Amino acid sequence: MKELRGKVAVITGGAGGIGRAMAERFLAEGMKVVIADINQDALDQAVGEMAADGAEIAGVRTDVSKLESVEALRDATLDRFGAVHVLCNNAGVASGAHGKVWEHEINDWRFAFSVHVYGVINGINAFVPHLLEQGGEAHIVNTSSNNGGFSPIASAATYATVKSAVVTLSECLWGQLHEVGSDIGVSVLFPTGKTKGILDTGIWAAAERPPEFAPDEPVDTSNKMQMWIQMQEAAGTPVVFTPLSEVAETVVDGLYANRFWMVEEGRFEEAVQARTDIILRRADPDYQVG
Ligand SMILES: NC(=O)c1ccc[n+]([C@@H]2O[C@H](COP(=O)([O-])OP(=O)(O)OC[C@H]3O[C@@H](n4cnc5c(N)ncnc54)[C@H](O)[C@@H]3O)[C@@H](O)[C@H]2O)c1
Repeated sequence: MKELRGKVAVITGGAGGIGRAMAERFLAEGMKVVIADINQDALDQAVGEMAADGAEIAGVRTDVSKLESVEALRDATLDRFGAVHVLCNNAGVASGAHGKVWEHEINDWRFAFSVHVYGVINGINAFVPHLLEQGGEAHIVNTSSNNGGFSPIASAATYATVKSAVVTLSECLWGQLHEVGSDIGVSVLFPTGKTKGILDTGIWAAAERPPEFAPDEPVDTSNKMQMWIQMQEAAGTPVVFTPLSEVAETVVDGLYANRFWMVEEGRFEEAVQARTDIILRRADPDYQVG
């Protein structure tokens, strides 16, 4: 994007965490922002706080796993601001599912796919035809994770699988938009900032599931961040937090640069290299087991 000022951004999962940090940064860039989230209370609070300085922001309750809900988000955005230029497909959940791939309940997969994969597909389906018709510059940012991109954690198979799908989906989208000569950029966001550390967001606790994806066995919904911190401390690793504003900086910087891979330069280099080397040598993927 050559210019962000005056442009309209839609951010799913925008009521908290990384999505909210993006919203704050986009507003600071002079953009108009629509945040979409399934959590109405968090949405109201976020809009209330961010609208305080007269910022142009709206909140639309949305369930990204439902196409009709994402279509209603598009229509509400067009009604309010008349255009869309940046779409961040960012909403995400922790399913609370851990363990052996073959032992997962089928609803563990369905829930993870419904938000992380269908959430992105629905965003593309609802918005891209409009963006093509609208013409001019636009950009789609799909949030993945290093767990999906290149260093899957074997114990979190559902999460790693869906985040990997987001990478491939984004590569296909980029290729096809390029082929038709459109001015719509695409990015995969690996949430990182200048400071290498933990991202303190809501994803550390498993989300409440809608009835259609209810597990047979109750899942642990406690916040896992404290456990992670204790593990870091026990390993003698200093506990550092990455300010979420730094992730938003990675996004804004990537938008101006029309960068497909939105990741802090040099981050995960060893993991990317290791995976590539292993593929080239057809070796066993021992490095993946985490
Ligand atoms: N926090 C991390 O360490 C980390 C690392 C890599 C990737 N990510 C990814 O970043 C994205 C943002 O997560 P976060 O860490 O800010 O977590 P978060 O829980 O703070 O934010 C996620 C938001 O998505 C919303 N949401 C959940 N289901 C939804 C649905 N069906 N429809 C609409 N909104 C929904 C939640 O209500 C929440 O506000 C996710 O895709 C996550 O997988 C996070």
